[in-house]
Amino acid sequence: SATLPPGLHLRPLASTDYHRSHLALLATLTQAPDIGEESWTARFDEMVALKGSYYPVVVVDSSSDQLVATGTLLIERKFIRGAALTGHIEDIAVSSSMQGKGLGKKIIEVLTALSEIVGAYKTILDCDPKNEAFYVKCGYENKGFEMARYT
Ligand code: ACO
Repeated sequence: SATLPPGLHLRPLASTDYHRSHLALLATLTQAPDIGEESWTARFDEMVALKGSYYPVVVVDSSSDQLVATGTLLIERKFIRGAALTGHIEDIAVSSSMQGKGLGKKIIEVLTALSEIVGAYKTILDCDPKNEAFYVKCGYENKGFEMARYT
């Protein structure tokens, strides 16, 4: 399995991570405007209250005490397949200066292992075609296409 470079540590998202550039890190992925600490904390608390559903993880650079990578596992509860669980991997982002060092792969490994430990029968994700090769290297396969309708 992938090992992180020295000085980097993977842990669950913490209630104080608003102050460690969590939103600036997510802006690597998509629009992630500063919603302010109060709104950030309210969203964090909602995720915690939905016990066993949201598993956000981060990689922290201990020298700067800033977040450099993140990803979330969401556990979906189903009626099918004997009331099965499905793991969804969402919102993977590695800060631009830290890409290509194995951080993304480590996050996918950890979220996939967590999904299996929780008991999901499969783990799935949506991605841009340009990231397909990255996910193939993480052990995922292309199972078709994604559709969306934006509001
Ligand atoms: N195309 C081909 N290969 C790639 C790519 C790519 N776009 N990105 C990484 N790889 C390869 C690496 O070369 C490496 O190969 P190796 O094991 O043979 O050396 C392997 O995949 C692992 O690469 P990492 O260093 O772990 O990749 P990184 O830490 O840069 O993370 C990621 C990849 C997440 C795509 C990162 O570049 C990123 O944050 N990009 C911007 C945001 C983004 O697109 N996020 C993913 C959205 S999809 C989702 O969230 C479900």
